[in-house]
Amino acid sequence: MKHQALLGVATAAALLSGVASPLDAQTPAAPKTMTGTVDPAKTKFDISPTMYGVFFEDINFAADGGLYAELIKNRSFEFPNGLSGWETDGTVQVVKGADYDVPFPRNPHFARATAESHRDRWTALDNAGFRGLAFEEGKTYHLSLMARLAPGTVKPVKFDAAFVREDGTMEARTPFTVDSREWKEYKVDVKAVSTQTRGKFRLLINGHEGTVDLDHISLFPEDTWKGRANGLRNDLAQAIADLKPKVFRFPGGCIVEGTTLDERYQWKNTVGPVGNRPLNSNRWNNTFIDHLTPDYFQSYGLGFFEFFQFCEDVGAEPLPVLNMGLACQFQNDASDLTQQVAVDRLGPYIQDCLDLIEFANGPVTSAWGKVRADMGHPEPFNMKFIGVGNEQWGTLYTDRLPHFLKAIREKYPDIRIIGGSGPYPDGKEFEFLWPKMREFNADLVDEHYYRDPAWFLSHIDRYDKYDRNGPKVFAGEYACHDDPTNSLRAALCEAAFLTGIERNADVVRMSSYAPLLSNYNAWQWAHDMIWFDNTTVVKTPNYWVQYLYSNNAGTHTLDLSGLGALPADCYAGAVLDESEDGNAVIFKFINLGATPVPISVNIPGAADGTEVSVVGIKGADLALKNDLSGADRIKLEESTVKIGGTGIFAATQDPYSFMVYRIPVK
Ligand code: AHR
Repeated sequence: MKHQALLGVATAAALLSGVASPLDAQTPAAPKTMTGTVDPAKTKFDISPTMYGVFFEDINFAADGGLYAELIKNRSFEFPNGLSGWETDGTVQVVKGADYDVPFPRNPHFARATAESHRDRWTALDNAGFRGLAFEEGKTYHLSLMARLAPGTVKPVKFDAAFVREDGTMEARTPFTVDSREWKEYKVDVKAVSTQTRGKFRLLINGHEGTVDLDHISLFPEDTWKGRANGLRNDLAQAIADLKPKVFRFPGGCIVEGTTLDERYQWKNTVGPVGNRPLNSNRWNNTFIDHLTPDYFQSYGLGFFEFFQFCEDVGAEPLPVLNMGLACQFQNDASDLTQQVAVDRLGPYIQDCLDLIEFANGPVTSAWGKVRADMGHPEPFNMKFIGVGNEQWGTLYTDRLPHFLKAIREKYPDIRIIGGSGPYPDGKEFEFLWPKMREFNADLVDEHYYRDPAWFLSHIDRYDKYDRNGPKVFAGEYACHDDPTNSLRAALCEAAFLTGIERNADVVRMSSYAPLLSNYNAWQWAHDMIWFDNTTVVKTPNYWVQYLYSNNAGTHTLDLSGLGALPADCYAGAVLDESEDGNAVIFKFINLGATPVPISVNIPGAADGTEVSVVGIKGADLALKNDLSGADRIKLEESTVKIGGTGIFAATQDPYSFMVYRIPVK
């Protein structure tokens, strides 16, 4: 984590340092030509099927208020300010119940609402969701809640459930009656009459007598992704699914560690009945003084079961990362022994790893396999990878990691373990950790880089120089940070950098941009791949770069020596894609310059007249970005060209563009 990442910008001076020409955006350069040969017979390395993945972290309201489709904030009244998220009329108070007297002992608070006795006064609870609650005309929403008549109330109490428009008027009311003196689940469907982006949801006591206890008040749209109960927001989940990620890292980076050890991410708290998953603070709520989000908590409604299920749905290998006995090292001094577990007390943390593997893969007869089965998934999830620790460094890390490796390898020798190289792509900690990872024989080493465009362009050869025999690399968090945030320039620099990752597919076996999601109205960290508010999803140019690589990963790298020297400001890669539908050369070309570049590449084996599909992104200006006022300024452009009579594939690539050419070959 770099604190300046909050700003999401690099200074102009930094941008222009090192590699000037491609970043000197508006200077027209002399026309240049790209010529050469790519021979599909000259394969080099196989490309890992897990090469392009996704990194999910609950940062920027990515889970609650984001991917998780729950519309009610503080549904269980567990926020420290018990009525946070709620506006009330009449008498409503939050009560902490005894274990035996609440529906969910791990979330012991509930709301007690008393009807107003005067005929012109009302008791109501309004929830404004996550920076507004959006609803859409004609759509159905599922309300569920736990309720009982409070001690002393004997007659049933009538309620109305309704959406409230931005102008404060209430929509059609859906009645229901609380009639039980024991806690009971009530379910009601409510249809929206209008479309609002910043509305509210109201529960109103439609009467003047009685007191009712309410808990776990939950509201989901009917059309969650794949129609699942406790499901995901359709548009966001689909945007991620469209990336066709082959690996999915969760639950994040620093959030794994927690600001304090007590607040670390504990996966066992995120499985089982949703209402009983204990609320946790969010690691990112108070990190940045000028971006405080004190209402940011983790309900864990989107928990480990849901993550595994999503991986299965999108065809990604699950890659969970677990805490290894250290709270966030950025936020705690190494001398603070309260925020680190002594090496001889790591047992429960190691056990968490072993139990997780059992939860994911164990038979239904095993303790944790049974928990999975009880949640509706008796088949194993086939987890193959685990990360131990996030951005840990120093001997705090290296003293602890071997204990995890030993225990996991003894019990689960097939599980591949990801170690770390610290928060930065170079420097003291990185230099210390890499030899250690070799010594420990980590299967993959997680590298992180949040850097400016100049860095990305001057490090395309980073992996050309890597030891081919050591642990493999997981480029687990990276993003090019530019001004403006998520610019076309940043995206094209990432595309150029990825040519270096692609051609070193024998070293780099996995990669993921970070972070994935960001709520415009509640973010902490920019840049991010996908931005959203309650109704709109904005796919950044960086999203499209990931999309293009992931959907055109190929199966083998190709010898690139036939390409010769590339024109200035241009970057290229080529892979072979072997598939049952036929083979193809996938040629990727990035033009960061201000003039069009004629391309003429000889592809032996490409038949005359063959149609080449072209897909990519471009813009008139490197500073262009997508946002709520223009979500499609940079969008996917698709066309075709034909192989000429001599087997030459020819095209002209526009300035400031990244195009992927798919050339069928024999
Ligand atoms: O991606 C945001 C943060 O960056 C991650 O939580 C952390 O691993 C890194 O510092």
